[in-house]
Amino acid sequence: MRILGIETSCDETSVAVVEGMKKTRVNLVYSQVDHARFGGIVPEIASRQQLKKLPLLYIQALNESGLELKDMDGIAVTMGPGLVGSLLVGVNFAKALSYSCGLPLLGINHLEGHVFSNYLASPQLEPPFVALIVSGGHTILVHVCDYLDYQILGQTRDDAAGEAYDKVSKLLGLGYPGGKIIDDLAGKGNPNFHKFPRAFLKDISYEFSFSGLKTAVVLYVKEKGPEFVKNNLFDICASFQEAVVDVLVSKAMLAARSLEINKIVLAGGVAANSRLREKLIFKAEKKKIEVFYPPPILCTDNAAMIASAGHKRFEKGQRSDFNLNAYPYLPLSGSN
Ligand code: KG4
Ligand code: ZN
Repeated sequence: MRILGIETSCDETSVAVVEGMKKTRVNLVYSQVDHARFGGIVPEIASRQQLKKLPLLYIQALNESGLELKDMDGIAVTMGPGLVGSLLVGVNFAKALSYSCGLPLLGINHLEGHVFSNYLASPQLEPPFVALIVSGGHTILVHVCDYLDYQILGQTRDDAAGEAYDKVSKLLGLGYPGGKIIDDLAGKGNPNFHKFPRAFLKDISYEFSFSGLKTAVVLYVKEKGPEFVKNNLFDICASFQEAVVDVLVSKAMLAARSLEINKIVLAGGVAANSRLREKLIFKAEKKKIEVFYPPPILCTDNAAMIASAGHKRFEKGQRSDFNLNAYPYLPLSGSN
């Protein structure tokens, strides 16, 4: 089965063709750059950019794969969660394609897509496993009991992990998006330079909170002054990153050990973080737990992961009709 995937949930526009559940034929991603000067995503700009880029990427994807629409067996599109204006562009584009050529259509949960990016990256991976979905919009710990069967263990009560990176980066005047920038600078710093707070670290719970950490960095920077911050930038980045990573790693390990599961899977933009990968692998190895994560192109938003999830659902006979809508809030829950 060959599936065309479309992803427009935020500020990335992506079109992909996936064959079977695990083979990517083409996966084109365009990341909008216009938001950098605003220090964050401007939803109105994001949806207008989606409208401009999606038709071009669609044509390019067909050209690069040497395929035509009639060579597809289905169209999978992100229906949520995300920015509603951006989502609507992809959903309506997919509906129009489906209507024009009679191909079956399927709306996919973006978070499920992030989990599926790991099946694309590691074809040997099979559920059950614990998945940590960490992105600019989400921090969710999930027990993936089976393909399409999810049990949410916990999530953030306020900011997402990626959001904390982006806000701290903005505060330090480092640019947007901040994850990769801080990750690179932190690599040159001392993670034990300053002990920033780690929310819920000692609790036997799977809840996360990152807004207190962000405030702690704001207060620290204010107290120390610009000269000190400039001279100790690498160490401050490393200390902030260590606080984020400590909580993520300890909750993921707690979940795997409590559920007696020997696989932990990272997904979402923050899964690209070098310290998160390093520390999780180090802790997991000691407990004989295997760690999986996708390459950077499959960590951030992409349509291959949506097509892969679509493949699994099409296989089960699932279809959407033309009432398919965009859902800004869409939980990943229950078994389907
Ligand atoms: O999954 P994604 O592309 O979009 C959402 O669904 O949100 O994730 C984007 C987020 C941004 O907050 C970005 O700063 C963060 O992922 N990110 C990173 C790294 N690369 C991207 N965070 C930490 N370390 C990185 N290397
Ligand atoms: Zn995402």
